[in-house]
Amino acid sequence: MKIGIDKMSFYTPAFYVDMVELAEAREIDPNKFTIGIGQDQMGFAPLSQDAVTMGANAALNLLTPEDIAAIDLVIFASESGIDHSKAGAVYIHRLLGLPKHARAIEFKEACYAATAGLSYAQNHVAAHPDKKALVIGSDIARYGLSTPGEPTQGAGAVAMLVTANPRCLAFNNDNVYMTEDIMDFWRPLYSETAVVQGKYSTEQYVHFFEEMWATYTEKTRLSLADFEALCFHLPYTKMGKKALDTIITTVDEEKQAELLNYYQLSTKYSRQIGNIYTGSLYLGLMSLLEHQTTLTEGSRLGLFSYGSGAVAEFFSATLVEGFANQLYTAAHTEQLAQRKRLSIPEYEELFKATLPTDGSDYSIDEKLDQAPIKLVGMKEHMRLYTAK
Ligand code: HMG
Repeated sequence: MKIGIDKMSFYTPAFYVDMVELAEAREIDPNKFTIGIGQDQMGFAPLSQDAVTMGANAALNLLTPEDIAAIDLVIFASESGIDHSKAGAVYIHRLLGLPKHARAIEFKEACYAATAGLSYAQNHVAAHPDKKALVIGSDIARYGLSTPGEPTQGAGAVAMLVTANPRCLAFNNDNVYMTEDIMDFWRPLYSETAVVQGKYSTEQYVHFFEEMWATYTEKTRLSLADFEALCFHLPYTKMGKKALDTIITTVDEEKQAELLNYYQLSTKYSRQIGNIYTGSLYLGLMSLLEHQTTLTEGSRLGLFSYGSGAVAEFFSATLVEGFANQLYTAAHTEQLAQRKRLSIPEYEELFKATLPTDGSDYSIDEKLDQAPIKLVGMKEHMRLYTAK
């Protein structure tokens, strides 16, 4: 039985920062951000959007009443969770009106956790082929104003429906994975922003990719020529290219050009949204599928997942017949076109806004945010969510 992703969608908040304007405000050559880092815009979440609301908004377009009735597992993968104890998936379960007899859990391992979520969902569907599993990756990447990490921030979520006989892509059960306890990027419990050893993190990303690729090719006896395209976790769009560069010369020039073209297509959404941590690899996958015109049923795609700390995984999936009918290209394009550009002073002011931590009542100005699901305030340490 084939198991895989039946359909997938993303959500990013209604605001963005232009990277040229940000560079100018920081007195940096804009080419460093747009070429050196490879980002044009960066999604920004107002207080009314947290990891829970973004995750629920990402799933909204995706689910028919039949899907909702068949979902008995929802996994929320995030490193921007709102509670040390209660899973964000429990709120999402309510906001989406999912069936009572479902499991709702939260997974964490930096940007890697949605990949673990997909594997758990795959095993669940293998045991219950008539059921569907919803896997959400949702995050707000925050490094702080005027920090080296600032141009690699972003905000957004992906939602993926895992089913038997998927209509988009099927997993090939060839996953390889690894763990090494390193301190390249982390966020202590008391901190709103990540701590990062930037250059070291980029070196570790490439090191983990090389190790995974060597392990994968040895295990499967496949080579780069067996793949139509590779998708990468994209903390910024130059990063995946650094990993791809380590193996690209193993194929002829024509194949190299094809792979590089698909790589560029896989970065289009991330260029406008930035790093969304857990959802980033899958945003890249959507970007590839929704911008390409040449992939066909049977195309093999490689996926590289990396979560700082660090855990990495490489696996492949095969496109199935009719996959193009499963995409939400128009809705995604529209969503990006509707966003409002924040001036740098507006962005800085919104960046500094925080929710109360002392249990006091707090209301968020709802008019700013037209999203169907949003955070409207806090009361007695509880987040108050509304769903239209
Ligand atoms: P930096 O020190 O400001 O930048 O930090 P740089 O000096 O290394 O320059 C960046 C690139 O711009 C370089 O290109 C420069 O040459 C180029 P490269 O050598 O890398 O190819 N450049 C220019 N290009 C054109 N015109 C110019 C110009 N000037 C310079 N005028 C860094 C960059 C990414 C380290 C920083 O932004 C950062 O710390 N970001 C956060 C960490 C990060 O994203 N790490 C990625 C790997 S770890 C990961 O993926 C996991 C993560 O997603 C978290 C998780 O798992 O949860 C982060």
